[in-house]
This record gives sequence, structure tokens and C-alpha cells, in this order.
Amino acid sequence: MKRLICISNRITLPRRSAAPGGLAVGVLAALRHTGGVWFGWSGETNDNPADEPEVLTRANIRFATIDLRPSEFDRYYNGYCNSTLWPLFHYFPGRFRHEQDEHDAYQSVNELFARQVMKLVEPGDVIWVHDYHLIPLGRLLRQLHFRGPIGFFLHIPFPHAQVLRLLPNYTELVRDMCHYDLVGFQSEDDLRSFFSCVEHAGLATVAPNAQEITIGGRTTRAGVYPIGVDFEVVRAEAEAAMSEDSVQRMITSLVGRKLIIGVDRLDYSKGLTERFAAFEHFLETFPENQGKVTFLQIAPLSRSDVLAYSEIRQSLEQMAGRINGRFAEADWTPIRYLNRNFTHGTLMGFLRAAKVALVTPVRDGMNLVAKEFVAAQDPEDPGVLILSPMAGAARELTGALHVNPYDKRGMALALQTALNMPLEERRQRHQQMLEAVRRRDIHYWYGTFLQDLTGERRVPAVPASPGSATTGAARPVLRSLGMGS
Ligand code: G6P
Repeated sequence: MKRLICISNRITLPRRSAAPGGLAVGVLAALRHTGGVWFGWSGETNDNPADEPEVLTRANIRFATIDLRPSEFDRYYNGYCNSTLWPLFHYFPGRFRHEQDEHDAYQSVNELFARQVMKLVEPGDVIWVHDYHLIPLGRLLRQLHFRGPIGFFLHIPFPHAQVLRLLPNYTELVRDMCHYDLVGFQSEDDLRSFFSCVEHAGLATVAPNAQEITIGGRTTRAGVYPIGVDFEVVRAEAEAAMSEDSVQRMITSLVGRKLIIGVDRLDYSKGLTERFAAFEHFLETFPENQGKVTFLQIAPLSRSDVLAYSEIRQSLEQMAGRINGRFAEADWTPIRYLNRNFTHGTLMGFLRAAKVALVTPVRDGMNLVAKEFVAAQDPEDPGVLILSPMAGAARELTGALHVNPYDKRGMALALQTALNMPLEERRQRHQQMLEAVRRRDIHYWYGTFLQDLTGERRVPAVPASPGSATTGAARPVLRSLGMGS
């Protein structure tokens, strides 16, 4: 009987508010369905961390966490993860740095994770490692004699070799990825970039359309598994939230103005300064909208100890203040800029109430807000999604208005088009996206990945996802893996 162990840096503990980002949502959905263990950092730092993971069991999930030492955490998380790998993987070489002691802390935290996970492992377990914080973990688990299948999923983009090679030890990182049995990416571009790095590092020659590589007799399969949302849950939450007090108050406060919405973790990869500049340009170019629209930007703070994040925060505060100062009336504020978070249900209600969503990152692995907006809208009278082609979601959501986030004029025009789009066109565009979001939902994501990882085939066949590592894969019914028990 196979049990699933998911490992990620950040986890969502029961009764705590959901961790930000698509990773936490996706892993929780998978584990709720399959049962198993979720191992990760507790969210706390501590000078004397306990020797053993703290384990909390809720329903069919065991949440196992460890604290990290403050100095170790700073060099690992603020340093190597979020000042080295994050900027490089998001194509921001100007924001990237490489410090040897941060690299060493990254290695030692991964070693700690490996040792602690091994304490929880039982024969027959399947391990699924998530995201850039834990790339070396597969190799380290093998060194500690874990013999079961190990998969890795990268939630963020993977850069082309011409960018990744800026990292002094990039060969080591790429080699580490080749210690997994299956490596999953959000998009075809990420997969091709990975192969470009394998070749550039001289590790293997990769055939066109390859789906696996063999290095020193060990084969790693690699595929594309675009993450999705829990469609039915989002739809139900959005509908229910319309009668929630907080959503009703927000709608009343608009006094009939059309709502334009953005919901992003405060991060320079999300294109927020470009978005604010484009909104200002829109108000200038199409002045008939002044006083007629409200732009609500929700941007919860993130990684506040990293300089790049405090800088972007400052820029946005200045821009919002300046734009509001320039255009506001006594009874109208053009931008409502909020750093606080809301419950998922309330956010879905806000998304449903919006006529336009701006999802315009300058680089993003997938961006689940784009998919949530589609799922949350009323199909009879849907809003319009303005989407950056630099988000992984753009491949699937062809019914959106696609616009380059650096193109201020194009963004302003897209806003004007979206706000004036006839109902029939809105419905047609929404219908296309709704189908895509419903078909490739969160269950499809973890189902296809785990099925490809474990080779479980005791279930009816469905067509394989394009770019999936194996073809003719069977439909995932994960309870049959015994993970639910
Ligand atoms: C992205 C990453 C996740 C991360 C999340 C929130 O979605 O892919 O791995 O957990 O951002 O970032 P944080 O640094 O707060 O965990």
C-alpha cells in the first residue's frame, strides 16, 4: 500500500490561515484526497529546535513540521531561496546575488529536511517534493537510502540556460534535479528550458521532444503538469460569498462604479508597478472613465525582510498615493491599494463582483488567480480577464485579452476594450476559459502527476495531458493507490 509524503518549505497547518500561493492550495487538495503526510517548515524560528518533527494529525493528513534556527533561516530563505533562486528563475538577473554562505545554508537545510523526513518514512511510501527551496532533497533522500519513487514539481518558471548559467554552481542544481524519478513543470517552455540546461551543463544530449534523460544509468522523466484550481469549490465559494457582509459592503461602496481587480502576493514578478503605471495611463487616455471605475489591488505582504520586496512596496505606496492625489475626487478614489489578506471565500466573492481582472505578471509559473477569476464569474454576465502572456496560465486561457505588461498603451487599451466589451463576446471568451479551467482542475493536476510517478494503472483510461511524461496514462483514482487509508 502506498502512502504519499508531500514535502514543501511552507505548509498550511490546520486552523491557521492558508499559506499564500498556489503550492499550498495544490498540496492540500492532493493530500485531502489521498491522505498522507505533509512535511515542512513550521513557520517559526527557534535557537533550540526540537530533535524530532512535531506531528499533528487531522482527518487523513499528518502535518509534520520542524523549526529552523534564525540565522540558518535567514541565509536559506531570505538569502539563497529568495535572493538567488527566485530572481534568477523569474528572469531578473539584476536582482540576483550569489553568496557562498547562503548556498551552504540552503544545502544544510535540505540535509536537515532529508534527515527528519527519513524518521517518518515507512516501507512503500511515495515522496513528492515541491518547489525551488528543496531541489537537492531527492539526492539527499537517496543518499539516506530511500528506495521508493520520488517526484519533484517546480511551481515557478524554470529559466533558460543562458540565464541559469549566471549561477556559479548551476550544474550542481541541474544534476540534483536529475536525481528525481519524475520532474514536473508548469509549462512546455519551462520543460524546454530545463533540457537546455541539461545540455548546457554537458550532462546529457536531449533529443527533440524528449520526455526523459539518462545520466550515469539513471533515468529521470520530465513532463508538463499545469496546476489548476478546485473548480467546484471556487464556484461555490464565489456564489456563497455574494451574500457575505464583507463582500456586500465592498459592492455597496462602489456606488455603481465598475470594479477592476488585482490580487497578488506583493512581489516584483507580479508586474504591479507596471500595472499601476498602465492604470494611470488609462485614466489619462480615456478620461471618460474618471469617476466611473474603481481599481481594487489586494497585495498581501511577503518576504518583507528581503530588500527587493521592501523596495517594491515603497514604490507601490508612492505610485498609489501619487495617482490617487492626481485623479481622486472628494467622493472617488481611483486605486484602493490594500496590503492585507482576506479569507479565500471573501476573495472569491470580490473576484465575482469584478468586471475586469488584471493578471499581468512580468513572469509567473502559472498564476491561479487568473483561473480563480474565471471559475468565480457568473457565466451569464461574465467579466473580462486581462492576462499577461508571461503567466503560465496564458497558454490555457486563450479567451483572455492578452497584453504585454510592459506595454502601457496596450494595457490601457485592453482596459478600455474590456470595460466596453459586448455581453455576447464576454460570454464566448468566458466559455472557452471555463472549459479549460474545469477540465484541467486541481484534481487533474495531482492525479496525472502521481499516476505518472507511481505507474498506478488499475483505473479507467483517459487521454494523457499534452506534454505529460507518459502517454496513454490511466485516469487517476488515487484511493486505489491506498493513499486514503
Ligand atoms: C510561490 C512559491 C511557493 C511559496 C509562495 C509564497 O507561490 O511557488 O513556494 O510558498 O510563493 O511565498 P512564501 O515565501 O511566503 O512561502
